[in-house]
Formats: sequence, structure tokens, C-alpha cells
Amino acid sequence: MNNFIYENKTKVYFGKGGVREYLGCLLKNYSTIMLAYGGGSIKKNGIYDEIIGILNSEGKTVVEFSGIMPNPTYKKVLEGTKIARENNVEYILAVGGGSVIDCCKIVSAQAKIDEDIWENITKKKKFPTEFVPMGAVVTASGTGSEMNAGAVITNETEKIKCGLFGAQADFAFLDPMYTMSVPFEQVISGAFDTLSHAMETYFGKPSENNLSDDINEAVMRSVIKNMRVLLTERENYDARSELMWASSMAENGILKIGKITDFQAHQIEHQLGAYTDCNHGKGLAVIHPVLYRHIYKDGLEKFTRFAENVWGINDKNSDEETALAGISALESFIKEVGLPTKFSEMGIPESTDFKAIADSTNITAGCCKKLTHEEILEILKECV
Ligand code: NZQ
Ligand code: ZN
Repeated sequence: MNNFIYENKTKVYFGKGGVREYLGCLLKNYSTIMLAYGGGSIKKNGIYDEIIGILNSEGKTVVEFSGIMPNPTYKKVLEGTKIARENNVEYILAVGGGSVIDCCKIVSAQAKIDEDIWENITKKKKFPTEFVPMGAVVTASGTGSEMNAGAVITNETEKIKCGLFGAQADFAFLDPMYTMSVPFEQVISGAFDTLSHAMETYFGKPSENNLSDDINEAVMRSVIKNMRVLLTERENYDARSELMWASSMAENGILKIGKITDFQAHQIEHQLGAYTDCNHGKGLAVIHPVLYRHIYKDGLEKFTRFAENVWGINDKNSDEETALAGISALESFIKEVGLPTKFSEMGIPESTDFKAIADSTNITAGCCKKLTHEEILEILKECV
């Protein structure tokens, strides 16, 4: 087994009613709280009223930072930073999905320094060390952002969407009831994002005998099973619970223990997002099968195992047939749950500058094959 260090500082409060029971107590040492949220869904589903009621009854000064968009921009980070500084915010409460949580992670770091965090991380490899503390109330699951310090931010000027490092939430509330109002398409897209995180980790090295991959297979099977449950019972609380916890499990570091992760599909999708502002889970759904057909021969043993242990395929003759049947099963599943398998289904036109996307995609070396920019362009063209 490779050497590793593992720690996760986020305390998870899972289940119904957690916010009402514990939020006030968790914020007892802070008086000025930034309440950060997205485009307003929390005002329609009652979560805003519940939280503001708790903050008011605890006598907090509440500073609002709203309008955090899906695929949050660095410009939005700077807007939040200004609000945090001008109001001497002591604690940031991120209420939303991955976009809100990610934006807050970087606001939390940027509020502490005058230097530009984007420049520091992307150009100088200088990472933040001081943060305004933050906590998260997850309203849409899938990214697993609540249990790590990674934040995916889009710099519109540079046309780069990439992972930065910021604050990690001290606590995360995971109440599956909060996800009931998420548009169903987003529920499925988020759950596929979780499956993608698991796959991208699974296909990283090492491939042979390791506990992380064994746990990962269980996570993937659970995500597939519970997505299928939601197709016929959209409000099934248990299925939503399992998906919500799987989302955290896929990104809280446990599956990555001892592994070099890959995330090549994510790198491609992030640049696709930088150019098209597309939905993250949908972009991944299109890219995954195409990418895997390009690389499976270089990782035949692992792709065969994926087919057998995740998709239950055991009636094929050769490893190659089995591996390909696994990728086909993944593709059929994507169709079954209503996700796209072509960019055209997402409204991404053929005229998109795929060459610029391919050339600006970060190449990873964690998986069975290190791609070139030319191969990424081929993959993107096949996705159209
Ligand atoms: O903005 P509001 O009005 O809240 O609406 C949101 C948004 O339109 C809505 N929503 C959220 N909770 C809701 C709800 N609508 C009704 N009821 C609720 N309870 O859902 C829409 C999507 O929200 P968003 O936060 O954008 O979705 P998601 O959680 O999928 O986050 C996507 C972002 O996370 C990044 C993605 O690239 C993308 O920018 N990722 C972050 C990662 C991380 N930090 O670890 C890893 C991922 O791979 C991913 O890249
Ligand atoms: Zn993702």
C-alpha cells in the first residue's frame, strides 16, 4: 500500500431536522455571520426562513451574500470577499449545492489576504493558509464539496475553470429532506457526478488489490441502485439519503486513500464548462463512455473488473468483450436515467471551439493512459 496521511475535519450532521437542533449551538462563538446562497431556491423551499429564524433568535448580525451562480466565477468570489471584509464577517454559512460551497471556500481565503488567490494558486502554486471559518448546509448533493477543501471556480477572463484550494467546512448539515425541491434533472445530474468521482478515483493507480477500490465498488453499486429507485419514486427518502451520503463518501478522501486519482473526464468537462457554462453532471455523462472507449485497452484488467463487479457482467468470452460490455452498460445507464450522451442534447453546438477546449485542458497522469491534447480533441469531437 502507498503511504498516506488521512484527516477530515468536517463534522457531519446527517438527517432530518439537524439544522434546527444544532446550528445555533455551532455558531455560539460568532456574532457576525455571512449567509451565502445561490439564485433563490432557498427562499422558495423554506430553508432560508428556517435558517434566518435561527440566526435572528440567536441574536446574530446577518450579512447576506446571494446570487452565487452554478459554475461560480472568480468575479463572484471577489464580490463576496468585499462583502465579508466591509462587514467584518466572522463566520461564513454556505447554504446550497457545490457552487455555493465552492464560492464560499475561496471567499473565506481571499478575505484574509490582499494578494489575488487566483494568481497565487494557478500561477505561483502558493496556497492559502488562513481562512474565515465556514460551515455548510447542503441543499443539493452530488459534488461532495462539503467534506473537502477543493473549490471549482471559473475565471471568465482567462477562460479557465479549475480546482482551487480554500477553506474546508467545520461542519456540514446533510438533510435529505432539503433535496426534495431540487429539480429532478439536477438530482440525477448530481448523482452522476458522484458516480463520476468514484470512477475517476477507481481507475487511478494502483489498480491491483487495495481496500479503497473495494469500498469504491460498493459506493458505485449503491449510487446506481439508488438512482434507479428515484426514477420511479422521486421522493424516496432512503434513496435520497444513500445518494447524499455517497456524494460525501466519494469526495471525503476515503476512496482516494493510497491512490493517485485520475479525474481526466473532470478536467475535460471543466474546460467545456469554461467555454459553454454547461451543467457539470451532464457534461460528464457525455464524456465518460467516449473517454473510456479510448483508453480501456491500456487498462484492460481494471475495465474488466469494473464490468464484472459494478455492472454484473459475467457472460462474455474475452476480457476485451467484457470491458467493452461494461462501458456499454455505463452508457445504457446514462440513457436510462435521462442524461445526455451527446453534446447536441445539451445545446452545445458543433461550432464550439473544441480545439481551444482541448488545448487548455489539464492533462492528468493518474489513469491507465496519459492523453495528449490531440486525443482530447478527438474525444470532444466524438461527443458532439
Ligand atoms: O442557485 P439556486 O437558486 O440555489 O439553485 C440551484 C442551482 O440552480 C439549485 N438548487 C440547489 N439546491 C436546491 C436547488 N433547487 C431547488 N431546491 C434545492 N434544495 O440547483 C442548481 C445547481 O446547483 P449547483 O450548486 O450549481 O449544483 P452542484 O451541487 O452540482 O454544483 C456544481 C458545481 O460544483 C463544481 C462543479 O464544477 C460546478 O461548478 N464541483 C465541485 C467539486 C468540489 N468542490 O469538490 C467537485 C465536482 O467535481 C465539481 O466540479
Ligand atoms: Zn464532479
